[in-house]
Amino acid sequence: MTANLTSPDSSPSLISPIISRPQTVDSLGTTSPLKLGVMASGSGSNFEAIASAIANGQLNAEISVIIYNNPGIKALARAEKYGIPAVLHNHRHTKKREDFDQQIVETLRQYEVEWVVMAGWMRVVTQVLLDAFPNRIINIHPSVLPSFKGVRAVEQALEAGVKITGCTVHVVSLDVDSGPILFQAAVPVLPDDTPETLHARIQVQEHRILVEAIALINC
Ligand code: GRF
Repeated sequence: MTANLTSPDSSPSLISPIISRPQTVDSLGTTSPLKLGVMASGSGSNFEAIASAIANGQLNAEISVIIYNNPGIKALARAEKYGIPAVLHNHRHTKKREDFDQQIVETLRQYEVEWVVMAGWMRVVTQVLLDAFPNRIINIHPSVLPSFKGVRAVEQALEAGVKITGCTVHVVSLDVDSGPILFQAAVPVLPDDTPETLHARIQVQEHRILVEAIALINC
């Protein structure tokens, strides 16, 4: 087992759990690629981290579809770059959250998705989505949960004056940012940090632990 305490960009970090994963699978042990559905509301850098890890053989998975709720977001261009189907579900056109989630479930089923990754999905989910994929939905959040749940997690950390924050991958439950924790990474808060500089440092680790978490699912 190799302790891996340094990120690819050399910024110090502590990742938990610390794992060393075999990079190759012999022909008898080959598992079929995990079919993922990604849900995103914005930039999609976490989506691209997954797509890139798949493209370079680091992950035995495929992104069957990306679902997005805000027209014109940057994640769309990233989906195009990787040739991944993108389906818009605009929440502004559906009154009830349950109906909105049901539409999403139908798309995920249509694309035969096995696991769902919320990668910057900025909507509260309902039991409808949870029941369709029980314990098979994960989320990335920019804090070390249970600290700083909800929106503006990076700003909350700065306002609280913490010296260490980070990110969490967890299984999604009905309560916001509260399901079982799979991976966390700690990131230092530097004296001159703005929400933007701190978020950028956190995102380096988000991309890393999200890929690690998906690898763990399919190992
Ligand atoms: C990430 O910081 C994630 O933790 C939060 O929303 C942000 C999404 O970033 N839930 P991106 O769209 O993946 O770049």
